[in-house]
Amino acid sequence: MKRLNRIITVFCAAILLFTACTTQKSYMIEVPVPEREPGQTDVVGLVTEKLETVRVGFIGLGMRGPGAVERFTYIPGTEVVALCDIVPERVEACQEILRRRNLPEAAAYSGSEDAWKALCERDDIDLVYIVTDWKNHAQMGVYAMEHGKHVAIEVPAAMTMDEIWALINTAEKTRKHCMQLENCVYDFFELTTLNMAQQGLFGEVLHVEGSYIHNLEDFWPYYYNNWRMDYNRTHRGDVYPTHGMGPACQLLDIHRGDRMKYLVAMDTKAVNGPAYIERTTGEKVTDFKNGDHTLTLIRTEKEKTIHIQHNVMTPRPYSRMYQLTGTDGFANKYPVQQYCLRPTQVAADEVPDHENLNAHGAVSKEVREALMLKYKHPIHQELEEIAKKVGGHGGMDFIMDYRLVYCLQNGLPLDMDVYDLAEWCCLPELTALSIENNSAPVAIPDFTRGAWNKIQGYRHAFAE
Ligand SMILES: NC(=O)c1ccc[n+]([C@@H]2O[C@H](COP(=O)([O-])OP(=O)(O)OC[C@H]3O[C@@H](n4cnc5c(N)ncnc54)[C@H](O)[C@@H]3O)[C@@H](O)[C@H]2O)c1
Repeated sequence: MKRLNRIITVFCAAILLFTACTTQKSYMIEVPVPEREPGQTDVVGLVTEKLETVRVGFIGLGMRGPGAVERFTYIPGTEVVALCDIVPERVEACQEILRRRNLPEAAAYSGSEDAWKALCERDDIDLVYIVTDWKNHAQMGVYAMEHGKHVAIEVPAAMTMDEIWALINTAEKTRKHCMQLENCVYDFFELTTLNMAQQGLFGEVLHVEGSYIHNLEDFWPYYYNNWRMDYNRTHRGDVYPTHGMGPACQLLDIHRGDRMKYLVAMDTKAVNGPAYIERTTGEKVTDFKNGDHTLTLIRTEKEKTIHIQHNVMTPRPYSRMYQLTGTDGFANKYPVQQYCLRPTQVAADEVPDHENLNAHGAVSKEVREALMLKYKHPIHQELEEIAKKVGGHGGMDFIMDYRLVYCLQNGLPLDMDVYDLAEWCCLPELTALSIENNSAPVAIPDFTRGAWNKIQGYRHAFAE
């Protein structure tokens, strides 16, 4: 009897321990995922009718917007039809760009908070290009799609989960493209390295890193109505993650065979943000939320990891980190560009100075340059020259706009879809949730609602 009691006790303890372990293991904060309405389907690989001419309306012509207007004047098969900004002088400044390029003036919308609605309601526009502050992005995108337009929205295109789901649901219902204007995925190092990764040079990509580390001290006074500092003051978490997330997610084929499962985040205290406000306004600040430095770790379904950082407050050299660790190699962009490969991976006839390869260090500058030439992406082969001439962050902004127009003209899936937008923009809300709960894991929803494995491998589309 005693023996039986002991066996029962041990058995119960084992069950309790097992339950405790499994409960512990599965602890995760979950956010709601709205059900897809009946009849609504996903837009993975969405193609729309070819557009011979892409007629564009721009909303938001502050520091960033005019550059976009100018770039479009260099893209064949486009028309700048309408321009909108609350501030009339900003619209006029962009009309001047059109005049300088010998193009007709565009219809002007200005003077009120919702003048942009009339632009979206026009029937001679195919694409609404949104470059306002973050809080306006999603509502403008939704309204434009509801009025039959494709939309392109600056980064981050959405700041909350509600905004993300509104954009997804509207894109799925209207069957319109909704692209986030993430330019860094077209940068020369990033796109070349993606090409190398896609051709297997680094083996299986296991870990990627990215960031937005940029001291914005010189820029704070120029944001319209102080929107950006205000946002940082009132929000914790990584509020500007897409420059790091974009290249990282493309390397990992996110929603093209893998998906992000959960994240954990942590931040430092806020020091330089409140100090800046106190220094420039005399206001004593006690409610500043955004930490000077924010870190996020993400794990994927296929057991890969992503590390993202945000710091716009401290004096550091600009960095998007951009780093890749594969089973057979390594790439790094900041502070110095580096590739590290096994000696056997670089054939003697492919690169000069084969003897210099060292598996424990980066390849030489000559080998790196030869590799970058050999693996130059077809998009860069076609566009590098004009992109560098037109400019925009060294050319990547022009390539982004050109690819958007090219895909619309050729009826191809865009390089970035609404689910990329969602995945790269979920960090602001989900990292805040993690941080406010002692860095607890937060589940990342499957924004495709079941379609993340439909396409295998991220690829850019090209016309036949
Ligand atoms: N991808 C990049 O490299 C990059 C670089 C800089 C900025 N950005 C993004 O571009 C966007 C704009 O940034 P910015 O630096 O130009 O800011 P900004 O404050 O200089 O410009 C915002 C403009 O939007 C206008 N605006 C605000 N509300 C409006 C409304 N209701 N209707 C019409 N116009 C309205 C303002 O008048 C202002 O001219 C932001 O989302 C930012 O994150 C991206």
